[in-house]
Amino acid sequence: MSKPARSTISAWRSTVAAAGVILVVAAAPAFAKAKPAAAPAASPYQAALDGAYAKFKDLHEGKNADYIPALAKVDPNIFGIALVTVDGKAYTTGDITSEVSIQSISKVFTMARVVEEQGPDAIQNNMGVDATGQVFNSIVAVEQYKGSEMNPMVNPGAITATSMIGGATRDEVWNKIVSTYSDFAGRPLSVNQEVFKSEAETNQRNQAIAMLMYAYGHIKANPLQACDVYTEQCAVSVNAKDLAEMAATLANGGTNPVTGKPCMTAANVPKVLAVMATAGLYDDSGKWLYATGLPAKSGVGGGILAVSPGKFGVAVISPPLDAAGNSVKAQKAIAEVSNMLGGNPYAMKPAAPKPPEANSKKKKK
Ligand code: DON
Repeated sequence: MSKPARSTISAWRSTVAAAGVILVVAAAPAFAKAKPAAAPAASPYQAALDGAYAKFKDLHEGKNADYIPALAKVDPNIFGIALVTVDGKAYTTGDITSEVSIQSISKVFTMARVVEEQGPDAIQNNMGVDATGQVFNSIVAVEQYKGSEMNPMVNPGAITATSMIGGATRDEVWNKIVSTYSDFAGRPLSVNQEVFKSEAETNQRNQAIAMLMYAYGHIKANPLQACDVYTEQCAVSVNAKDLAEMAATLANGGTNPVTGKPCMTAANVPKVLAVMATAGLYDDSGKWLYATGLPAKSGVGGGILAVSPGKFGVAVISPPLDAAGNSVKAQKAIAEVSNMLGGNPYAMKPAAPKPPEANSKKKKK
């Protein structure tokens, strides 16, 4: 924009003075000498995301999952970070258009749906809410307590949770699942058919787990259908922003902070967060909680989402995984972002001591 001519400025000053705002105008320096306006301070959220992106973008550790053949073909260089606050503001950096399959992160939202339909005791009384200390598809963990004393974040508990969603037909169950996920993400989600087919052709171990959970009475009927629906839910396609919005909905007491849509009852959210904290990163959940304090969930597609209750949801996609099946870069980037923003819900300042008068008055009574 070109500068106004000086004569225009003088005329404008006289007009403003006549209008009674002389103090402001008289104090203003001549136009040519005016200091440039200070750049607006960068948002601390955006700065945290950009900082974490720059710090970890060149880290090349870990390896794509390959026990599901389609996952081995995903670009290992995808690296996107997104954060959504409980007042509905979204911040992103890196690759946020690429999508990966949601995989085990889906377990959180299927659990949420079961808790909404049947109450929190249904989960605790069926598969349990305790860590197994085993890998996510452990059969030893099923055998140890005949399918009890585990949780809905590991495969046996997750396939069982899927089997608990009410519906007269497979379609009815599926529609409930995908609409729940879509409400949390704030947009209609769909299935990556290549990933679904690839896992359906190679998921014999999960089929065996489903049959065992049926044999022990945790799955009441149609174990192979439960396994198939579970496989399809794992193939739902998401980007980093979708995952961050899903996490932010949990951070915001179950109501999507962007769309305003209630997705689950606020009273049930702590039950879901508790299991995420206990088992969201499998046998590395303790290390994760120690580092961040955040309930979180990983998926072998390379995504991790984490919840800072009452503050924000944050998510990262980066496909290469560590030995426990958790994205290497996602763990590091989320920890960095959260620690920069004070996201740890266990970190608090001591309360200010009471003034001495207040104490002495109390004693006299
Ligand atoms: O059932 C499976 O093996 C996969 N569909 C999901 C496993 C998974 O994402 C474990 N997460 N880190």
